Amino acid sequence: MSTEQHKIGSGFGAHSTADDVLTGIDLSGRTALVTGGYSGLGLETTRALARAGAHVVVPARRPATAEEALRGIAGTEAWQLELSDPESVRAFADRFLETGRALDIVINNAGVMACPETRVGPGWEAHFAINHLGHFALVNRLRPALAPDRARVVSVASSGHFLSDIRWDDLHFRTGYDRWLAYAQSKTANALFALHLDTLGADSGVHAFALHPGSILTALQRHIPRDEQIAQGWMTADGTPADGFKTPAQGAATAVWAATSPLLDGHGGAYCQDCDVAEPATTDDMLIGGVKPWAVDPAAAARLWELSSELTKLDAFS
Ligand SMILES: NC(=O)c1ccc[n+]([C@@H]2O[C@H](COP(=O)([O-])OP(=O)(O)OC[C@H]3O[C@@H](n4cnc5c(N)ncnc54)[C@H](OP(=O)(O)O)[C@@H]3O)[C@@H](O)[C@H]2O)c1
Repeated sequence: MSTEQHKIGSGFGAHSTADDVLTGIDLSGRTALVTGGYSGLGLETTRALARAGAHVVVPARRPATAEEALRGIAGTEAWQLELSDPESVRAFADRFLETGRALDIVINNAGVMACPETRVGPGWEAHFAINHLGHFALVNRLRPALAPDRARVVSVASSGHFLSDIRWDDLHFRTGYDRWLAYAQSKTANALFALHLDTLGADSGVHAFALHPGSILTALQRHIPRDEQIAQGWMTADGTPADGFKTPAQGAATAVWAATSPLLDGHGGAYCQDCDVAEPATTDDMLIGGVKPWAVDPAAAARLWELSSELTKLDAFS
């Protein structure tokens, strides 16, 4: 591990909300970008950052829906972005760069989970393409806008990474598809992306973090039948979230903490959980969390960066 995975004692925890974490932090004059910031955790993230004074640009694959969700939240705007489409990523970034604005915070939050097998672009597996490669391309293209000496890039990963390392020999599931392994691989990729980005960005003072937000019932579970969610113990028969689940406002807390906390200075590349640096995982219980070694392995992070660069033909940091 290049970064120490040990708690630093933030004073916040699993029950803290995004607003709690931002109390006393003034983001006036700062610009943030929150992918998917109009649904679930992303919407709460956008709301909290805007309340703290940031201007928040929300990349959205359904801009009309996003505008509706963001109505009444001052200082926000929704722009078209489909993460599975490299041309859409390019158009979004070009549009942003043309504004000449600097970016202080990028939260790579958008994601899909446990989809039926789906191929995008040149046959890429959809979780890997959307959750990882789309954000890889977005951040590389936005590189000229990242504010030197203060920009933070935050990857919303998941304890779902427990289930899979990067499948170096079968990245796109050519030998048989498994929707949970596909999600897991993409979340390991989110963590490794932040780790290597932090290494590459260090010279210019651009730092990156990854995190598990907790378990929260949102639209993310759209592909999981309700009976299955009850059987998994995620909710009771009447739809009440299980013990240990968070509200969306609690689920957004670690992302805004990673994006703003001065306590994280000097901890670039860390994988976080419950508004603190996560400890190494000692069990396979995803509700307890922690981080598995393959998600914080610097050599794997460098290898994934190279691979992602080959696939997207982008590398703005090396
Ligand atoms: N909820 C949890 O328990 C949990 C646990 C661990 C990690 N996470 C992570 O937290 C993040 C947010 O999840 P959530 O629970 O808030 O789910 P959500 O409510 O479904 O939000 C996901 C967002 O991603 C957007 N998105 C999906 N595919 C996209 C694409 N191809 N291009 C652009 N945007 C796309 C969605 O847009 P549409 O609304 O238009 O589909 C939506 O706005 C995800 O990265 C997820 O893996 C969540």
